[in-house]
Amino acid sequence: MIVRAVPSLQHKHILIDWTTTMNITFSKLSLPKSGPVVFGIRGKSRLCPSVTALDKASGGSVRRAIDVSHFKGEKNQMLDIIAPHGLKNDMILFVGLGNQSLSETELQDLGGFIYASIDKLKQQRATIVVDFGSDPTQAAAHVAYGAKLRSYTFSKYKTNRKKDSSKVKKLIIAVNGEAKARSEFNKLGKLAEGVFLCRDLVTEPPNILYPATFAAEVRKLKRLGVKVDILGEAAMRRLGMGALLGVGQGSRKQSQLAVMQWNGGLASQKPVAFIGKGVTFDTGGISLKPGAGMADMKWDMGGAGAVAGLIKALAGRKAKVNAVGILGLVENMPDGDAQRPGDVVTTMSGQTVEILNTDAEGRLVLADALWYCQKKFKPCLMIDLATLTGAILVALAKEYGGLFSNNDELSNQLISAGKGSGEKVWRMPLSEIGGHYDKMIDSKIADMKNIGGRYAGSTTAAQFLQRFVNGVPWAHLDIAGMAWAEKTTATVPEGGTGYGVRLLDRFVQDNFE
Ligand code: BES
Ligand code: MN
Ligand code: ZN
Repeated sequence: MIVRAVPSLQHKHILIDWTTTMNITFSKLSLPKSGPVVFGIRGKSRLCPSVTALDKASGGSVRRAIDVSHFKGEKNQMLDIIAPHGLKNDMILFVGLGNQSLSETELQDLGGFIYASIDKLKQQRATIVVDFGSDPTQAAAHVAYGAKLRSYTFSKYKTNRKKDSSKVKKLIIAVNGEAKARSEFNKLGKLAEGVFLCRDLVTEPPNILYPATFAAEVRKLKRLGVKVDILGEAAMRRLGMGALLGVGQGSRKQSQLAVMQWNGGLASQKPVAFIGKGVTFDTGGISLKPGAGMADMKWDMGGAGAVAGLIKALAGRKAKVNAVGILGLVENMPDGDAQRPGDVVTTMSGQTVEILNTDAEGRLVLADALWYCQKKFKPCLMIDLATLTGAILVALAKEYGGLFSNNDELSNQLISAGKGSGEKVWRMPLSEIGGHYDKMIDSKIADMKNIGGRYAGSTTAAQFLQRFVNGVPWAHLDIAGMAWAEKTTATVPEGGTGYGVRLLDRFVQDNFE
């Protein structure tokens, strides 16, 4: 009998980095002697210098192959030439660059597209020649980054490891000025590690990733110089966090509040704060969700995953910023001790909440996390991320994260970071406290209720949060549609997306560094 190593279900084993990360290296611009080689072509007639050289070496057969094919050098077009005449390489691939100059995200998408094409070839190594773009070193770094983002897989629970052996193991980027490209890529690589942490956390099953084990993963960030404090239920009770604790009350798992601090900026700088909804599983509680699709609720901690990934990225690349990350980690279960529809809880702020639906739990967790954040850290601004409402999917599908904010400048900064990073947000309406949408959550017997009504479900959820920000500049990102993807795109394989990490890293870079 063959005894295979089966991943243990003990939480000791969680998240030991099993993600197959391909090795990416940078080399001088030259034609490799073996393995598949990829070249970029901008339009059919204008060949980049290295393709012209290649054509010469092949005695004109490369040009001829391009001419007789359908390949026009358009974006997302690919032409492969097998065993080209006069060349030692088994395979040459041409990828279309289109006619416009490529933005950073377009270069990343190109890298992802190339990765997917060479991955199909079942070769261990491949080379991409980058002699295009206004700055080829910059282009090379972003192509490599896109390829890396696309190469992510989560296979730790597959006991047949052979499945992975056909993957590209080594990717070589050939470019003039390889040292500059490499150092540019190193920064982006740190960001990718943050994205991968988020994807890992989101994909982990809920029997493995629950509040205590999530907190244990956060503790590992200490290695990067992040200050980490974990508050258990006793500490939270002392602080009066009745809303957060009420959600976790029906679970055998202890709720946790994870607090991370990355101090890369000046001591005089107020921190920028990020708060994540970390419901490691959302059954709905006593207001139980229907069975179909309930397993999806393992990724109801996507906001917390993004905040953890962001802090990892900021620390990894030693960002010159003071950042705080706060994660409200709870499991929402039905139980004899679970909270009931009709219960009234008192939040840390002192405000009372009538729970009318135990499935509207994310806002309860965030209410105490937000209040704690502004009291404890006096941040210059707060941004929370949460898979908060199904209604945001009704409004925006999976194209945009929903943005709600009490501050126009902050909103515009986030919209622009969304465009720059490819993780887009769309601003949604929010009333002032006392305004129309805000009144929709007034309760008959307490200060507020935890559901609005039939209409504007994402906005009433945001209105609820706003009552706990205490006037601090704040933005709420409802990422219920963005944390998980059913379809693979250029830089994001299906599954956990890591949405939010790139967006907020960009936001920090643009406005704080
Ligand atoms: N975690 C869900 C929201 C969600 C739905 C995330 C679909 C991802 C995909 C949240 O806790 C929830 O259950 N929201 C309710 C609120 C309602 C009871 C007011 C919803 O959206 O139905
Ligand atoms: Mn819920
Ligand atoms: Zn939820």
